[in-house]
Amino acid sequence: MKVLGVETSCDETAASVVDVTGVLSDITYSQQVHARFGGVVPELAARAHVEKVGAVVQAALDEAGIERPDAVVATAGPGLIGAVLVGLNMAKGLAAGWDVPFLGVNHLEGHLLSALLEERRPEWPFLSLVVSGGHTTLYLCKALGEYEVLAETVDDAAGEAYDKVARMMGLGYPGGPVVDRLAAEGNPEAVDFPRPRPKKGGLDWSFSGLKTAVRQHLLSDERAADADICASFQAAVIDCLMSRVNKASARTGVRRVVIGGGVAANSGLRNALLKTRHLDVYLPPKSRCTDNAAMIAHAGRLRLLQGQTDDFALRARASWVVGQ
Ligand code: KG4
Ligand code: ZN
Repeated sequence: MKVLGVETSCDETAASVVDVTGVLSDITYSQQVHARFGGVVPELAARAHVEKVGAVVQAALDEAGIERPDAVVATAGPGLIGAVLVGLNMAKGLAAGWDVPFLGVNHLEGHLLSALLEERRPEWPFLSLVVSGGHTTLYLCKALGEYEVLAETVDDAAGEAYDKVARMMGLGYPGGPVVDRLAAEGNPEAVDFPRPRPKKGGLDWSFSGLKTAVRQHLLSDERAADADICASFQAAVIDCLMSRVNKASARTGVRRVVIGGGVAANSGLRNALLKTRHLDVYLPPKSRCTDNAAMIAHAGRLRLLQGQTDDFALRARASWVVGQ
């Protein structure tokens, strides 16, 4: 079964075809229009999706060498509602026109399961850390659709903290890749940023205090070099992420760990995970960590294989707890 997946939940217009052999095509157009605003502007995102989605879908079909797939799936949420609507309606229209099954996919489930697209993939159960611009959540994945939230951020997402710090430092948007690059040249011990602990017994994160600490440091008389600030900030984020992953692994007895979401492309985080001997780590390539349609087509395909489909009345959702 060849499945076409469409993803338009934020600022990437993406389409992909997957089948039992893996990814046949994977096309991503990253919208440039937001850079000068320092963040994604929802209305502009929706309009840019409308302009590009047709060409992106056609490119995915061409690259896969097919004229029509056996099913069409699309992100139905969570995300920017106007943006989600574009890809979802496109998918419904195509499925209706081709008379093939249709299914709405939870964007987070795409991230959660993206490591399963690789040749070396984990068995169930595994821990999945989804760290993106909008989410920072650690799940215990027991089976397809059975996900238990073990830890969650109580305020900012990790990617949001990266973007805000980059903005404060005048490094542009999105902030993650540039902070990551600068961090590689800096001293992670130059500035002692806080590592907020979870409430007693819990595993949750809080990143807003860390962001405030960076702001205070930037205003101080002893401001470190940019690379050192980035390295120190990144070290604090990674410590916080790793401490919860380690605790969750110890509590559940599950050693297999996968990551997904834009921050999963972070070289420091990837190295920290790979260095942790007691974890069995599965990393998707960086291009499959940031938003892409292969992960959506793949998650959709797994559900279609279980016999699930949606009808065309399916609505787009701004928020949608994965697994429900
Ligand atoms: O998953 P994603 O592409 O979109 C969302 O669903 O949010 O994640 C985007 C986020 C942005 O906050 C971006 O700054 C961050 O991922 N990001 C990174 C890196 N690459 C992207 N953060 C840290 N290091 C990176 N290398
Ligand atoms: Zn995402």
